[in-house]
Amino acid sequence: MLILGIESSCDETAAAVLEDGTKLLSNIINSQIDVHKKYGGVVPELASRRHIEDIYPVVHEALAQANVTLDRIDGLAVTRGPGLIGSLLVGLSFAKALSFVKKIPYVGVDHMAGHLLSVFLEESKPDFPFVALVASGGHSTIFYVSDPVTFHVMGRTLDDAAGEAFDKVAKLLGLEYPGGPVISRMAKTGDAKAIHFPRAWLSRESLDFSFSGVKTAVVNCVHRNNLKGILPNVPDICASFQEAVVDVLVKKTIRAVRLTGAQRIVLAGGVAANERLREVMRESGNREGFEVFMPSPEFCTDNAAMIALAGYYSFENASTLTYDMDVYSRSPGFRQWHKMA
Ligand code: KG4
Ligand code: ZN
Repeated sequence: MLILGIESSCDETAAAVLEDGTKLLSNIINSQIDVHKKYGGVVPELASRRHIEDIYPVVHEALAQANVTLDRIDGLAVTRGPGLIGSLLVGLSFAKALSFVKKIPYVGVDHMAGHLLSVFLEESKPDFPFVALVASGGHSTIFYVSDPVTFHVMGRTLDDAAGEAFDKVAKLLGLEYPGGPVISRMAKTGDAKAIHFPRAWLSRESLDFSFSGVKTAVVNCVHRNNLKGILPNVPDICASFQEAVVDVLVKKTIRAVRLTGAQRIVLAGGVAANERLREVMRESGNREGFEVFMPSPEFCTDNAAMIALAGYYSFENASTLTYDMDVYSRSPGFRQWHKMA
């Protein structure tokens, strides 16, 4: 079965062709970083306009690289949400048009489901159930995943997402957008113990996150230095900030695995490309005797291969040839995980 995946939820226009849920024939990603860089974040209106320009060439290139025509595609998988409404509409409308003209059934995919399952694009695949941490620019959520289409939320961020905190701290330090890659680069030459930034554990049992406090602590640290006329030590701030975020992400994920007895951890989302997070999660998980799985960095950040894959898993039950499907900016609500008595 050949699936054409289409992703346009934020600032990447992407298309991919996946065969039988395992063999990736092409994976094209057109990033809009150059458009948004000067604003220090994604400008929704500019993002939608750029998606409109890029969607046709990106899909065309994905088909060409896979060496297939639309006539060979059995199904379309397209991101429905969460994300920027204008951006999502470009991808969904394009998929609907292809579906209508070529009579190819399509399925709307939740972007988070794509991230959660992206690890299945790798050789080493986890068994079910597992606990997944999805940390991206829009989300920091811990899921209990019992099969490819059943996800329960164990914890989520109450304010900023982890990636958003990286992006905001980078902007404050005068570093470029997106902040994650540049902070992780700068952190390599800094001392992670130089400054103790706060960790928001919330209540003792809580698996929720909060990253606005650590962000404010960085603001205060920079202002204090400014008042004293001292130039902030950017590598030390980056390393110490990164350590604080990684510490909370890892410890809460480990706690979630202990609670469920799942024994397996999956790391996903753009922040999962962070080398320090990967290292600490692997070490901490292995110490507990848990298996730790993570996609290669190219599949952590937004891509259409993960959308094609998630679409593949839900295709049998969810595909359609009707055209009333809409996009959504927030996930309509995954069910909450509850410990069995
Ligand atoms: O998953 P993604 O591409 O898009 C969303 O769904 O949001 O994630 C993008 C986020 C950005 O906030 C970016 O700064 C962060 O992932 N990110 C990183 C790294 N690479 C990307 N954060 C920390 N370390 C990285 N190496
Ligand atoms: Zn994403």
